[in-house]
Amino acid sequence: MNLKLKIWRQKDANSKGKMVEYPITGIEEDMSFLEMLDVLNEELVSKGEEAVEFDHDCREGICGTCSLQINGEPHGPDRGVTTCQLHMRMFKDGDTITIEPFRANAFPVIKDLIVDRSSFDRIQQAGGFISVNTSGNTIDANAIPVNKDDADDSFSAATCIGCGACVAACKNASAMLFTSAKVSQFALLPQGKIEATERVLNMVKQMDEEGFGNCSNTGACEIECPKGISLENIARMNREYLSAKLQK
Ligand code: SF4
Ligand code: FES
Repeated sequence: MNLKLKIWRQKDANSKGKMVEYPITGIEEDMSFLEMLDVLNEELVSKGEEAVEFDHDCREGICGTCSLQINGEPHGPDRGVTTCQLHMRMFKDGDTITIEPFRANAFPVIKDLIVDRSSFDRIQQAGGFISVNTSGNTIDANAIPVNKDDADDSFSAATCIGCGACVAACKNASAMLFTSAKVSQFALLPQGKIEATERVLNMVKQMDEEGFGNCSNTGACEIECPKGISLENIARMNREYLSAKLQK
């Protein structure tokens, strides 16, 4: 396949970025999207030009670092996959592909296609944990019975990989889907009940402080989420939040 790439190039956080065109040839349809960018970077480096910076780690849909806006969609045109799992067979010979970083005030661009998603880390740190007594009297986790439906829903929420596609997909750059997944995974389990009130209040407060917008209720986040995180989690977080407020 021969393609035309339009890629966002930005020297650093303080520079103004712009789209730059790169023709690329000989791309196999079985290559992943990131392998295609590897080919481009090898060409650029061999010509003495600066490689395009992009985030990646596991390249198997687990770590959530490969955040790219491809033809206007977070993680590109396929469904239920991250950018690293996107294959070039989703494109046609002669296509023009635009590649940009995720856009949100709370995700400032660091360089080229890399954004700073530490705002997610701070939301997680605000309440995404449970306290466990590790002083030698630890209770075996399996000693506490958990309803199977709740265990399944908690597990589904816990599959959120923190990629940020939900934010990039939302016209308000809302982080409700991410935050609600992190709240839900504990809210559904007995182990998470102890700190439930403080957790939801603190995580929502941090989410707002980071500059994420309000939920737009359009469901774009759910459609673009590579892990199929359900909007039901947002409804659950809203119930948890209201209940916590009434207890205060
Ligand atoms: S909810 Fe989905 S899109 Fe949002 S961070 Fe988690 S995995 Fe990514
Ligand atoms: S590189 Fe880890 S999810 Fe894509």
